Amino acid sequence: MSIDTERTRLALRVNGRETTLEVEPRRHLADVLRDDLGLRGTHLGCEHGVCGACTILLDDEPVRSCLLLAVQADGHDVTTVEALADGDRLHPLQEAFRDHHALQCGFCTPGFLLTADYLIRTQPELEDEEDIRAALAGNLCRCTGYHNIVDAVQDAAARMRNHDGHLEAGDGA
Ligand code: FES
Ligand code: FES
Repeated sequence: MSIDTERTRLALRVNGRETTLEVEPRRHLADVLRDDLGLRGTHLGCEHGVCGACTILLDDEPVRSCLLLAVQADGHDVTTVEALADGDRLHPLQEAFRDHHALQCGFCTPGFLLTADYLIRTQPELEDEEDIRAALAGNLCRCTGYHNIVDAVQDAAARMRNHDGHLEAGDGA
């Protein structure tokens, strides 16, 4: 049996930056982000689509980067958790997670932040606890019991709404 190690050239935007690289077609996007681009905020837990730790945004929608081949991201916009903060200025979601003690070990946190960012951008009026729990059900946390995460997302949604009900930060994160 021969193993195909031929590399494919990709051109994509990662956190707003035009990026070209050559990868073997068999490699998953999560591995390429972490190992080739050094974006280790994308965490790998289950590696088969269950835990949500590897969640990134592909064209502004959350996807599991452990289930995507890197070649599938060719020509697309990829956003990782590293793009949320603006230098030393935390994103409102990060501030809310900090203020509500919504993380302990932090392993699940990047996935929650990006899923919640999408949730708030697409449903800015979302306030109901049960709706937030349902929307975050695809992300697993072994530490917090979820309560503080839900509080943080509620608070972040309020912080990100201006007086007109439009988002003030995190648009297109
Ligand atoms: S590592 Fe991708 S869903 Fe768990
Ligand atoms: S904070 Fe540890 S898994 Fe969520």
